[in-house]
Amino acid sequence: MSRLDNKVALVTGSSRGIGAAIARLFAENGAKVAVHGRDVTALSAVRETIERSRGRAIQVLADMTKFDEIEAMRHQIERELGPVEILVANAGGSYSPPGPLEATTEEGWHASVEGNLTATFLTIKSILPGMKERKAGNIITISSSAGRRPHPRSPIPYAAAKAGIEILTQDLAAQVGPYGNPRELHRPGNDSHGPQQGAHPRNATTGPDRCTPDSTTRNARGYCTRGSLFASDEARWITGIVLDVAGGATMV
Ligand SMILES: NC(=O)c1ccc[n+]([C@@H]2O[C@H](COP(=O)([O-])OP(=O)(O)OC[C@H]3O[C@@H](n4cnc5c(N)ncnc54)[C@H](OP(=O)(O)O)[C@@H]3O)[C@@H](O)[C@H]2O)c1
Repeated sequence: MSRLDNKVALVTGSSRGIGAAIARLFAENGAKVAVHGRDVTALSAVRETIERSRGRAIQVLADMTKFDEIEAMRHQIERELGPVEILVANAGGSYSPPGPLEATTEEGWHASVEGNLTATFLTIKSILPGMKERKAGNIITISSSAGRRPHPRSPIPYAAAKAGIEILTQDLAAQVGPYGNPRELHRPGNDSHGPQQGAHPRNATTGPDRCTPDSTTRNARGYCTRGSLFASDEARWITGIVLDVAGGATMV
């Protein structure tokens, strides 16, 4: 049995880059993967790579800033693979060059906020109700060190959007935890804290499989290796955390 055997996973923005690496790794671990993007040629290439390795994948299209397209994509996945059990809301990027705030265009601002924060919100808005109904599911969002660490040359719209994704993720974990997670963490040293403390993100990262910036690297493999753990049932107590994969550059 692999860690993700027969789980249905949607990895948004998996036509290339980090998302494609996550999709391939999930498939290697037994998941049935919906490979998502807008570039049909790139999507086909990722799907075919997975199928050549005897993995199961379908390709789906949607602009993640458009809720009706996301809903249509979800229905397609449900028809062809089943309900989404693992969501990696990875689609995004920086759509405005770094520079002084006053030189940032309104278009650049909207593109980065829509393409990252709004896209993540709309994706979760579509997938979450089914997970709540089934009382099971796993959602991983993708931020950036830009959203964690201020820098004078930071692309501000992108940094602000990614910081927004972090609090969205943590508020979401606080909202939906009771639907899927055990209510109390029984582990030496934590028993006295009670249910609320036990569910706190920082406590949830103190196990033997703890990820630190020293134990992983800022590359797709690092995201993916940990991603397969976080997407699995083994990680159901790891909730609402922000994990820096930045080689020690960001340690908040
Ligand atoms: N690369 C890094 O060093 C780094 C560092 C920190 C955080 N990140 C974050 O990690 C994630 C992936 O980054 P990456 O470097 O792998 O990006 P990438 O190579 O540019 O790929 C971006 C992916 O997202 C999809 N996408 C973007 N906007 C979309 C939209 N509106 N609708 C549908 N699909 C959309 C693209 O699909 P199509 O091309 O098919 O349209 C593509 O599959 C992003 O959220 C990024 O902000 C990256």
